[in-house]
Amino acid sequence: MLTEELKKELAAAAMEARKNAYVPYSHFSVGAAVLTESGEIYSGCNIENASYPAGICAERTAIFYAVSRGHRRLRAVAVTGGQLGQEADDFCAPCGICLQVMSEFCSIDCPLIIVKDEEHMQCLTLGDFLPHIFDGLDDRKGE
Ligand code: THU
Repeated sequence: MLTEELKKELAAAAMEARKNAYVPYSHFSVGAAVLTESGEIYSGCNIENASYPAGICAERTAIFYAVSRGHRRLRAVAVTGGQLGQEADDFCAPCGICLQVMSEFCSIDCPLIIVKDEEHMQCLTLGDFLPHIFDGLDDRKGE
């Protein structure tokens, strides 16, 4: 179970990361934070590119950052997003590609917290968003 304190810490990390979003094309900034099994928090933002498909979502920035530091099991994910320069005024759900990437490193019951601000968040699970996960040859998991 995730404590309220940890949820707030993750929300704060996602909100802080959102400030670094590079979004000259969509003007929609997103921040994400993940909690590793060992209790560390890694965060990331969306980073766009003049060649649009070369951009990357905040969730994948944060996840790939954690994995590249050796953390393959994630205990929770937080996401926040909204118009650049404005506070998030709605709950920003992760896109399908990011959900698929989460499914590689998170369990189906992994808390997925969508954040407006530290006082307003919804705590769901990866399975709520993606109930029928494609996991290919499941035996590669945990390698
Ligand atoms: N975006 C994210 O960072 N995460 C998502 O889950 C959905 C979309 C970004 C991609 C792009 O930079 C901007 O939001 C508008 O789509």
